[in-house]
Amino acid sequence: MADLPRRLVAGNWKMNGVGDALDEARQVAEALRGAADGPRVAICPPATLIHRMALALEGSAVQVGAQDCHMEAAGAYTGDLGAGMLHDAGARLVILGHSERRSAYREDDALIAAKVEAALRAGLEPIVCVGETLEQRRSGRHLQIVQGQLAGSIPGSLSDRPFAVAYEPVWAIGSGLTPSLAEIAETHAAIRRVLVDRFGDHGATTPILYGGSVKAANAGEIMAVADVGGALVGGASLAASDFLPIIRAA
Ligand code: PGA
Repeated sequence: MADLPRRLVAGNWKMNGVGDALDEARQVAEALRGAADGPRVAICPPATLIHRMALALEGSAVQVGAQDCHMEAAGAYTGDLGAGMLHDAGARLVILGHSERRSAYREDDALIAAKVEAALRAGLEPIVCVGETLEQRRSGRHLQIVQGQLAGSIPGSLSDRPFAVAYEPVWAIGSGLTPSLAEIAETHAAIRRVLVDRFGDHGATTPILYGGSVKAANAGEIMAVADVGGALVGGASLAASDFLPIIRAA
């Protein structure tokens, strides 16, 4: 069996955080200093904080990520940011296809795949998000939806590049609700099958993160589910006191 890569616990700050929030990131880095084992840890702050956070965390074990990027490297795209710019600012990962972008900005699978390509060209490691709505789950179509999102938003160029998939049921995000452990296991196994079909050994070891209302109280049991390779954490990543116990559970 191929060696499994380290788990990845990534914090998604969304549109939260101004200058003094960097203290939370510093506290996370400080607490992890010297910890030889444990998961890889990343924080994805708003773009305005990426550069300062990268400087503040330099030399620490905590990486900085972005929450989105444009599909083009540069050009007349008022308000947008290219992947190379985010890399230049200090980001090393990028969340793509988050459900909030899929719904609020109507991002479809083809656009997300193009953004993945742009991220790879710039040297950013993509975290590609997939997940069904409550209505899709209730109608029993969740696996089909997630498999379709994977087929459309994961380009073949990921075949030999590091990346992660995040399974985030839309109804679990920010709601305090989570799927049962059996439901998480079912979906992660389905995602794993798609990744192995597409990418063989590489797909067998790609981390599949769970996201949606992860907190200290449920992180341990979720991380113990087969094929859960880490977590994408929203609200509970904003304060070091909430985020650190999740990291420790991984
Ligand atoms: P949540 O968000 O942890 O606040 O539910 C997760 C996410 O949207 O990535």
